[in-house]
Amino acid sequence: MRVSRLDFDVAAESSHSDGGQKRGRPLSVGGVAIASPFFQAALSGYSDLPMRVLARRHGAAYALCEVMLDQFLVSLTDRAKTRHFLEIAAEEHPVGGQLMGSEPNQFAAGAVKLADAGFDVIDINFGCPVKKVLGRCRGGFHLSQPKVALEIVARTRDAVPPDRPVTLKMRRGMDDSSASRDHFYEILDGAFALGVAAITVHGRTVRQRYVGPSRWDFLAEVKRHVGPERLIFGSGDLFSAEDCLRMIAETGVDGVTIARGAIGNPWIFEQVDALWNGRPLPPPPSLGVQAGVIREHFRLCRETYGEKRSMIMMRKFCIKYSASHPEHLAVREALVRVSSPEEVERVLQTHYAEDRPGRYVPREVHGGQQEGETCS
Ligand SMILES: Cc1cc2nc3c(=O)[nH]c(=O)nc-3n(C[C@H](O)[C@H](O)[C@H](O)COP(=O)(O)O)c2cc1C
Repeated sequence: MRVSRLDFDVAAESSHSDGGQKRGRPLSVGGVAIASPFFQAALSGYSDLPMRVLARRHGAAYALCEVMLDQFLVSLTDRAKTRHFLEIAAEEHPVGGQLMGSEPNQFAAGAVKLADAGFDVIDINFGCPVKKVLGRCRGGFHLSQPKVALEIVARTRDAVPPDRPVTLKMRRGMDDSSASRDHFYEILDGAFALGVAAITVHGRTVRQRYVGPSRWDFLAEVKRHVGPERLIFGSGDLFSAEDCLRMIAETGVDGVTIARGAIGNPWIFEQVDALWNGRPLPPPPSLGVQAGVIREHFRLCRETYGEKRSMIMMRKFCIKYSASHPEHLAVREALVRVSSPEEVERVLQTHYAEDRPGRYVPREVHGGQQEGETCS
C-alpha cells in the first residue's frame, strides 16, 4: 500500500503526544532528545558498535545495543576479549543499552553497569522468545508473571541514576489467551506508573516467535489505551521506508524500531527520513555506494574486534549486504565463502566495481531471519 504524506500528517495531528514526535521536533524520552521517530532496534548478534554507528550515520535517530544478560554484565571486567560489549562510540549518542535477567536485584545491578558504561537509555527486555531464555525465566517469560516483572522495573528504576531513562521492550503477550492480554496491560500500566519513559511493543506473541504477522491493530489499541502523553514505539514487519511511515500512520505510535529490515541495509534510515520530510524516496544505493559502506563496516569491525574476530562478524553482515545487489544470489554465494579481508576485497572488486544501480531489499529476504538460540 502506498501511503501519502497527508496520511502521516493526519496521524501526527490526531495521535501524537506532546512528548512525542511532531515533524521537525525531537522526541523526549525521559529527557533524552531523539531527533526523529526512526530507530535501530536491538538485535542480538548484530546491533554491535559497527552496526549502530552505521545506522546513525545513515539517519537512525537512536540505536539500541543487543540484549545482554544481567549476570554477564555484573561479572564483566575490562578484559580485551569482552570490552567491546560495553564500548560506545562518541558519535552514537543517544544510544540504548538493553538487558534481561530473572532476579530483580541482579537485574538492577546489571542495569547500573550499563548506565556506568555510558548508555543514555536503559532498556528492559521482556520479549525474547528463545527457548533457553524462557526456560531460565528471562526475556519474554516475564510477560507471564507481572508481579516479578514490575519488581524488576521498580528495582531497575530505583538503581539507575535519575537522569537516565528506563524503557521497556515487550511482545504483545505470551500467547493469545485473555489472561496473557490482562498480564500485558498490568505490566504496561504498572511500568509507566513506576516511571518508565517509553515502551516498545512488538506485535507478535512470545509463542508466535516469528510465525505470522506482527499485529499492528494491537499497537494502535495500546497507543489509544495509554493516550497522547505516554510514548509507545512499534516493532514488527518494518522492511521498507514505507512500512515505517505506514506503521506510524495506521497505529499512531510515537516511533518505530527497525529490526531485520536494517541488517545489512543502513540505507533504510535515509530512505525513511526522506519520505518523512516530504522528499521523494531515494533510489536504492548504487554498487559503488554499497562497496564503500561494506569497506567502512569492515574497518569498524576490525577496530572493535581485532583482525581475527572481525572476519566472523563481517561474513554474516556481508551476506545481508548482498541482498541489495541485483545479482544477489551469486554475490551471496561468493561472500559466504570469504575467510580473509583480501577475499572480501576480491569479491568487492569482482561484483561491485561497476557503479550500477542496486536494488531495494525485497521483504522475502527477511522471512527466515529469527532470533538465534542465544542472546549474549
Ligand atoms: C536476529 C534477531 C535478534 C534479535 N535480538 C533482539 C534483542 O537483542 N533485543 C530485543 O529487544 N529484540 C530483539 N529482536 C527482536 C527485534 O528487535 C524486533 O522486535 C523483531 O525482529 C520484530 O521486528 P521485524 O519483524 O521488523 O524484524 C531480535 C530479532 C532478530 C531477528
